[in-house]
Amino acid sequence: MSELNPRKDLLDIESLDLEEIEYVLENAVPFKQLFQRSVKKVPTLRGKTVLNLFYEPSTRTSSSFEVAANRMSADVTNFTISSSSVVKGESLLDTIETLQAMRSDYIVIRHQAAGVPGIVAKHTGASVINAGDGYHAHPTQALLDAMTIREVYPEYKGRKVVIVGDVLHSRVARSTSTLLNKLGIEVAVLGPGSLIPEGRHEFMTRLRSWDEVFDWKPDAVYLLRVQMERQEGQFFPSIAEYHKMYGMNSQRLVRMRELGAYLMHPGPVNRGVEITDEAMRYERSLISTQVENGIAVRMAVLHWLKPETDKD
Ligand code: CP
Repeated sequence: MSELNPRKDLLDIESLDLEEIEYVLENAVPFKQLFQRSVKKVPTLRGKTVLNLFYEPSTRTSSSFEVAANRMSADVTNFTISSSSVVKGESLLDTIETLQAMRSDYIVIRHQAAGVPGIVAKHTGASVINAGDGYHAHPTQALLDAMTIREVYPEYKGRKVVIVGDVLHSRVARSTSTLLNKLGIEVAVLGPGSLIPEGRHEFMTRLRSWDEVFDWKPDAVYLLRVQMERQEGQFFPSIAEYHKMYGMNSQRLVRMRELGAYLMHPGPVNRGVEITDEAMRYERSLISTQVENGIAVRMAVLHWLKPETDKD
């Protein structure tokens, strides 16, 4: 594997330069090749500890970090908020101090408030990885998305990806669009006007209908989950209306097939809202590949970051 100066933390995509992005994506490839072997473990992080600290629910990200750390021979602790003293009113900083005393090498944190992983990073010598904070960032999701696109399009520069749905509340949309733009991939968005932030990213083309999407000729369509839990107002009339206007259905699949476009989704999927059962079975769906690549990318991230506790 090539070498590059390590960072302590991974908090967002904006602060990564192209060399760092390439480094992680290239190093994820040999980690993925490991998955084909009968023994999938390497000793890279033997003796190191990884703490998974999820203040919000997660299936893919938390289990993927756990598998990634296990495959690198680290010791993993999953910190369950519902059974921790956080529910008794312990403050974030007190929790960090307690965790610091455990001398973890890596802290993977998801929190409902934007910026919390950054605060934790300032108060600990452990490497902190943002596993999703509020509307702000989900950098490992963006990296796994980029890896997935690069696998199907080795000549990825100039390719086109349209992101569909709740861009306003989506840390995935923010991080993934920023990363794709850095890699020279064109990004467009489609969604209800109330869920498309005006002027957030000048590089994103605003499309107004599926006809405009298909005329734009995307190489991949990236559906976002409708995030009911983050919507404080009513952003569209009803779920049925959303599905009719923006969901991936059988008519739109016909157009996808004509274009040979791939389908992506970060999960968890709301069947019948942003995607139908039929579209879940689309032969060019990359959803399972995204999950698999998540493990490889997270192994590459753990390999790259260097905790201040690491004196070896
Ligand atoms: N994509 C993603 O973050 O999924 P989880 O919420 O299941 O971790």
